[in-house]
Amino acid sequence: MGQLHHETHSTHQLKNAIEFRNVTKKYGEVTAINNLNLSIPEGKITVFVGPSGCGKTTSLRMINRMIEPTQGEILVHGEPNHSIRDYQLRRSMGYVLQQAGLMPHRTIVDNIATVPRLNGMRRSLARTKACELMDTVGLDRSLAKRYPSELSGGQAQRVGVARALANDSSILLMDEPFSAVDPVVRKDLQDELLRLQKTLNRTIIFVTHDIDEAILLGDYIAVFSAGELAQVGSPEEILREPANDFVASFIGRDRGMRRLTFASGEGLKVYPLDSLNTPWQRWKLNVEDGKPAGWFIDNRLVAGGSLYREGGNLRDALDSVLSSPSGWGVVVDDEGYVKGLLNSDDVLDATEAERHRRYGVSV
Ligand SMILES: Nc1ncnc2c1ncn2[C@@H]1O[C@H](COP(=O)(O)OP(=O)(O)O)[C@@H](O)[C@H]1O
Ligand SMILES: [Mg+2]
Repeated sequence: MGQLHHETHSTHQLKNAIEFRNVTKKYGEVTAINNLNLSIPEGKITVFVGPSGCGKTTSLRMINRMIEPTQGEILVHGEPNHSIRDYQLRRSMGYVLQQAGLMPHRTIVDNIATVPRLNGMRRSLARTKACELMDTVGLDRSLAKRYPSELSGGQAQRVGVARALANDSSILLMDEPFSAVDPVVRKDLQDELLRLQKTLNRTIIFVTHDIDEAILLGDYIAVFSAGELAQVGSPEEILREPANDFVASFIGRDRGMRRLTFASGEGLKVYPLDSLNTPWQRWKLNVEDGKPAGWFIDNRLVAGGSLYREGGNLRDALDSVLSSPSGWGVVVDDEGYVKGLLNSDDVLDATEAERHRRYGVSV
């Protein structure tokens, strides 16, 4: 008895939310997707990544049958999606587009409340729920009565996410939702999505052409190349062992560096600034109002390199020492005030140790 109990609880098999089985999609002569076989686990973020035209959007849209496959089938929670009525299928999944896809003549709150209303929820309740979702995605409730044209790009994308979350669907399809906003807003939205997902645990399929975004967001990444699935795995698996030359080059030549973004720089020793007060040391950090402002060599001021934020990752630590004219990395706190220095030998040793620890090889 006890034995059986133990086994039941220790076997954490991920259930599949979606399964592509031998799926091919042709547009006339063009094969957009060729014989795709892919399982997408429940409650995780799976990212479809690849260059433009490789079939990401086509694959995504076949899940909720906005596009029908030419061959093969797609199971949703074990059921072939062609056996589900198309309007039911679509309402059962949240869908976020690159350009939020909001209805211009409806207020923000009504845009968010659309699907719950279609599913028969009373207007007042749907609006209450929509307002709560505005809080969830970090939108001020004062925007509720505005129209989409009155919002910034970043705000509109948040509305798109809120609207997708509004239908309580366990599956969320997101097609390049953050591509059209500037990098700072994009970073905010990415962080927000990760924060939300910690409590929501939805099945999210996220399409992007940006490998960095894929690595940041994905529990799993499916790399597409010209209509074929080139590789699927966790970000670390794909970085560690690209399946072929295409994946390797798509990840980029500095993938050795990218691996370091997974390693913390926490253990690195931070030296006080007066470590430089030695007779043989010619470099001195210039500090203005507590913040770094270049380096003095003898009495000449030269520009500084990239800064290392306390608690950052090893890649940033390495960047800071490699880009510093003195060879010392400059450590700052969240407000940008100087906290001390990183020694290049320490950082290079930590980098090497990390590579050995994880991969057993030098890169
Ligand atoms: N409606 C369509 N008619 C004809 N060809 C299409 C259509 N939609 C997509 N394609 C082609 O299918 C391929 C995959 O497109 P898509 O899935 O949009 O790629 P991605 O989202 O990765 O950029 C491309 O070659 C594209 O030109
Ligand atoms: Mg696309």
